[in-house]
Amino acid sequence: MKKSALITGITGQDGYHLAKLLHEKKYNVFGLIRGQQNPKKAEVEKNLPFVTLIEGDLTDISSLIRAIEIAEPTEVYNLAAISHVGYSFKDPILTADVTGKGVLNILEAIRLSDKENKIRFYQASTSEMFGGLDYNRPGKGYDEDALFHPRSPYGVAKLYGHWITKNYRESYGMHASCGILFNHEGPMRGLEFVTRKISNAVARISLGKQKYIELGNLEPKRDWGYAGDYAEGMWRMLQQDKPGDYVLATGETHSIGEFLDLAFKEVGISDWKPYVKQNPKFMRPAEVDILLGNPQKAEKVLGWKREVDFPGLVKMMVKNDLALESKSKD
Ligand code: GDD
Repeated sequence: MKKSALITGITGQDGYHLAKLLHEKKYNVFGLIRGQQNPKKAEVEKNLPFVTLIEGDLTDISSLIRAIEIAEPTEVYNLAAISHVGYSFKDPILTADVTGKGVLNILEAIRLSDKENKIRFYQASTSEMFGGLDYNRPGKGYDEDALFHPRSPYGVAKLYGHWITKNYRESYGMHASCGILFNHEGPMRGLEFVTRKISNAVARISLGKQKYIELGNLEPKRDWGYAGDYAEGMWRMLQQDKPGDYVLATGETHSIGEFLDLAFKEVGISDWKPYVKQNPKFMRPAEVDILLGNPQKAEKVLGWKREVDFPGLVKMMVKNDLALESKSKD
């Protein structure tokens, strides 16, 4: 029987990569899309013409039940969220409703619709749940058993989603897994995230379209991988006989300064300092200083490993933005 997947968050970077992967694997792919006249709908229809879009919203359980009735999924991937950490400080209540309670809504929608308990569920958990504080176990990195200490309304809401997913697994025997993903980037990343903001600005600066880039805190370090590699890990989690939680990460951490170094070198600029200004507007009330993941469990159990390394990721992103910016007039 042909497998069928419902993806929430189909308009985002991860929705794009996962939909492509599942299509290659011959799934029927459905995507939940929010609201009337969603401005991203045309882009999704262009990039992912094989996806059937269903209108619905994570905060509206009736729309989720309807989506499950239409898609009859064998797998549900919950990638939808208010996902920008900085923004979550501005809109913490909406973030709790969507990123936190939204997970409960979709779990309940599955539980109520799926009497035979056959649907497998993936929850997009995040390294933001760890918070980067001193019990980071230096050199080892966060694994699935590390302590949580989220540092933003986003991280707190994600932690609720993480635990409610585990709770449904333990309470109702659902095949529900959480992927604790460290930062994953690429050409499809939104311009509001620091890596894409930099790759895009570097391209524009080298083409003479922009003079400098304004950033917030340059000190934080992140475990940055390529989003395309991470979609494969999500899928592998749902192919296991038993559900579980897995960290997906590269096992390396790099500062924003290092990202700037490589990105500017890609266009022949060796000293980026004249092109970077700091603006407090982009600073956060509480910061996650360092994230380093330990993906050993995923490597061992899922046979998953990242393929694109850090320099390869930066190069890919700058090249993509150079190509896009060379074509566009503004
Ligand atoms: N966005 C942004 N814009 N971040 C900046 C800027 C800026 O101008 N200047 C400095 N930063 C710093 C942030 O303060 C943060 O420490 C770091 O760059 C990375 O910020 P983001 O790219 O916004 O990502 P994030 O790490 O906060 O969150 C992303 O990764 C999480 C996984 O750990 C998001 O994708 C989350 O949804 C995801 O869960």
